[in-house]
Amino acid sequence: MPEFLFNTNRIDTDLPPGSRVLDFIRDDQGLPGTRSACREGDCGACLVLAGSLRDGYLQYLPLNSCLLPLAALQGRHLVSIEGIGTDALNPIQQALVGHGAIQCGYCTPGLVMAITGYFLSAASTSLEDAIHAVSGNLCRCAGYAGIERALAALCGQFELAASPPQQRISDLVGWRILPLYFLDIAGRLRALPAAEGVPDDVPEDDALPIAGGTDLLVQKGDALARQPLHFLPSREDIQLAGQTCRIDASTRIETLRTSALLQTLLPDIGEDFKLICSPAVRQQATLGGNLVNASPIWRYVSWP
Ligand SMILES: Cc1cc2nc3c(=O)[nH]c(=O)nc-3n(C[C@H](O)[C@H](O)[C@H](O)COP(=O)(O)OP(=O)(O)OC[C@H]3O[C@@H](n4cnc5c(N)ncnc54)[C@H](O)[C@@H]3O)c2cc1C
Ligand code: FES
Ligand code: FES
Repeated sequence: MPEFLFNTNRIDTDLPPGSRVLDFIRDDQGLPGTRSACREGDCGACLVLAGSLRDGYLQYLPLNSCLLPLAALQGRHLVSIEGIGTDALNPIQQALVGHGAIQCGYCTPGLVMAITGYFLSAASTSLEDAIHAVSGNLCRCAGYAGIERALAALCGQFELAASPPQQRISDLVGWRILPLYFLDIAGRLRALPAAEGVPDDVPEDDALPIAGGTDLLVQKGDALARQPLHFLPSREDIQLAGQTCRIDASTRIETLRTSALLQTLLPDIGEDFKLICSPAVRQQATLGGNLVNASPIWRYVSWP
């Protein structure tokens, strides 16, 4: 049973581990702010943040909750749009309102989460990177000019280079982008078993191997919650020895894209791999899963 934090609460649920996090948030927890739209990773309306302790400090990733199995939350902090709310609009919400980036508002929660994810993780402020961070968020009515204006205003307001990663959460709390309770999350996560601390389940004979789940949840949808699954351990690893490059199948596509080692072999990989999926799907999708699903889209990436 996955144990994790959801906004301010500790969760220990009996729901099947293959259930969609989106349905857990909306149906089980009764919080409708996270939108359910395409349910296939294409629109970004369901975006949430998942935080975990890495290298001794708390780091958050934006993820599509429609493609995220509940088991992936073990030992992590799940944040929905309700979890960053306070009594007043925060600076990101104010910028979207002030620059005409909202019409029907259906895409807005996902957009706010993507921008919050950018402010949580970017090393320095860059409008180009901020725009890329929302490239998986579709808006059907307000359009993108207002979103760009809001991002430009936010990038002018906050300089991330002055905020080292270990201090980022307290800075975002100080800037009123995050609520105060985020300061306690690292300590509370240390009291939970981390994902790596949970022994591999012995799979049932007919259990389906699952890594990120971004393909299986599209292919099998809600049926995934009703079948035995074997969650493959994440051992992300890239090694280069002489002419041989070994990459563990569990390595995520975003890890490949940002790998300094792979950039020595493929100098354009950082830009080329931006063409694969959206930023949020790349944070979940693995190389092994991509090879097994045999997506034909890889051929568009230029190899030397
Ligand atoms: C919205 C969206 C956009 C996408 N865009 C692109 C794109 O632009 N380019 C592109 O190339 N791809 C694209 N993809 C495909 C994406 O790359 C794959 O969904 C992803 O890599 C699958 O990895 P996963 O870990 O999530 O696989 P899972 O869903 O966990 O598994 C997929 C299959 O692989 C098997 N499997 C997984 N890991 C292993 C393993 N280690 N050993 C044996 N079997 C294994 C599973 O049993 C399952 O059959 C997109 C997907 C989505 C949802
Ligand atoms: S509902 Fe569209 S990406 Fe999840
Ligand atoms: S404001 Fe309507 S979809 Fe974006």
